[in-house]
Amino acid sequence: PPADPCCFVVFGASGDLTHRLLVPALYNLAAANLLPEAFSIVGVARAEMSIEAFCEGLREALSKFATRKVEPDVVERLLACVTYVQGGPEDEASFDRLAERLRAIEEKRGTRGNRLYYLATPPTAFAPIARALGRTGLAAEENGAWRRLIVEKPFGTDLASAQALNRELLAVFEEHQIFRIDHYLGKETVQNIMVMRFANGLFEPIWNRDHIDQVQITVAETLPVGRRGKFYDATGALRDMVPNHLFQLLSLVAMEPPSRFDARAVRSAKAAVLDEIKIETTDEALRRSVRAQYLAGTAGRETVPDYRATPDVAPGSTTETYVALGLTIDNWRWAGVPFFLRTGKALCARRSEIAIKFKQAPLSMFRHMPVEHLTENFLTIGIAPEEGISLQFNAKVPGPSVAIDGVDMTFRYKDHFEAAPSTGYETLIYDCMIGDAILFQRADGVEAGWRAVQPFLDAWKQAGRDGLATYTAGTDGPEEAHRLVGDHGRRWRPIC
Ligand code: BG6
Repeated sequence: PPADPCCFVVFGASGDLTHRLLVPALYNLAAANLLPEAFSIVGVARAEMSIEAFCEGLREALSKFATRKVEPDVVERLLACVTYVQGGPEDEASFDRLAERLRAIEEKRGTRGNRLYYLATPPTAFAPIARALGRTGLAAEENGAWRRLIVEKPFGTDLASAQALNRELLAVFEEHQIFRIDHYLGKETVQNIMVMRFANGLFEPIWNRDHIDQVQITVAETLPVGRRGKFYDATGALRDMVPNHLFQLLSLVAMEPPSRFDARAVRSAKAAVLDEIKIETTDEALRRSVRAQYLAGTAGRETVPDYRATPDVAPGSTTETYVALGLTIDNWRWAGVPFFLRTGKALCARRSEIAIKFKQAPLSMFRHMPVEHLTENFLTIGIAPEEGISLQFNAKVPGPSVAIDGVDMTFRYKDHFEAAPSTGYETLIYDCMIGDAILFQRADGVEAGWRAVQPFLDAWKQAGRDGLATYTAGTDGPEEAHRLVGDHGRRWRPIC
């Protein structure tokens, strides 16, 4: 059914995120008749712009970034409900103008005072915009109308700044009004982890240290840092990917079964499991982590220069473009099971997956085939390039003698379901409009993620350039990462 009547107010309305993802996602929602009849889009940005020029920008964005064929009548329907307000948080009067405009639209369109504020701005503007919304009375819910705030990543740059941002937002909005986005939760396969684990009786009984040997979570990218040098050099692979995206994957795989499929129960279970990752000392943080920077090479089809030669990257930068961690989760379910995480730029292949390795058969009754020669039982949840699930197991090779070979049982999303290509933001925007927060981060979840990585940030800061490894662009990462898992008697699954 279509979402609740509402105004979609987007700050940073002429920016990259709006054009690249939000406009195509709103288009897809409109095309699927999921936007409410009473709806309005209010763009807010600093530039002086006529409504015609603003709409032209949106039209252009659609022609460049739409994920499906653009139907002119859907575009016209969407653009007919667009307005533009010039302003920013430093200009108090602009928020009064926004308030006035919202009241006028609400009267005209019957959006019932429901408003979704989307912060598609640089992170430095998050708190100032929230404060300005509070000051002008735009944040408080009144007369049954809802007011919701969507905040994008990066949510802080360490534990202290994430806590400070939570405090700033919670001084104006209540927790139930705040929707913190992690775009990994918009991915179908990521949402499917919950369905796979809890809609089947098969997996849960063996989902523990008695049967699982190790878990490997990989997000490998071929893209180098390219034009994002300024952002990336201040951020690095750990901050950019781990407390958010990789921990979303880890928490969905490792959490205890929530009692209900609702936002409170699911988010409590996810935060609880992140709280059980504990790194006690600097030494332990160094032992359990590998950080590295790429050197010139060829990744994908691209010739990549040294990371340090990237525009806007400091010549002596110690920012990591690759990180691997060996974590443990200190609870009864997972005691002794290593969780290996790795992510990096400019690697040999794009591959995102969660691989769960089950314990080997305890002995081999097949002569000539010792246990260590049998194929390892990996259950792999593929996120990119292909979405699906596959199980590796041993099968008999046809013929008179008993020879054994590894085979795959594979489910591919695209073979079974016909889904129109999407941006991954459709579900998230729709869910926010209907008030379902399951796929959004709660304050404690964000902070638990930062708390778990803070020891690594601190240890690396202390170590400086010591311990920063290198890898050639276009390879599977640094040698040291192989040692990290090798020390636990394990091997990474191949990326390339
Ligand atoms: C973003 C990071 O949050 O996620 C990028 O800032 C990264 O550096 C991207 O490339 C990866 O997302 P996806 O959906 O392409 O795996």
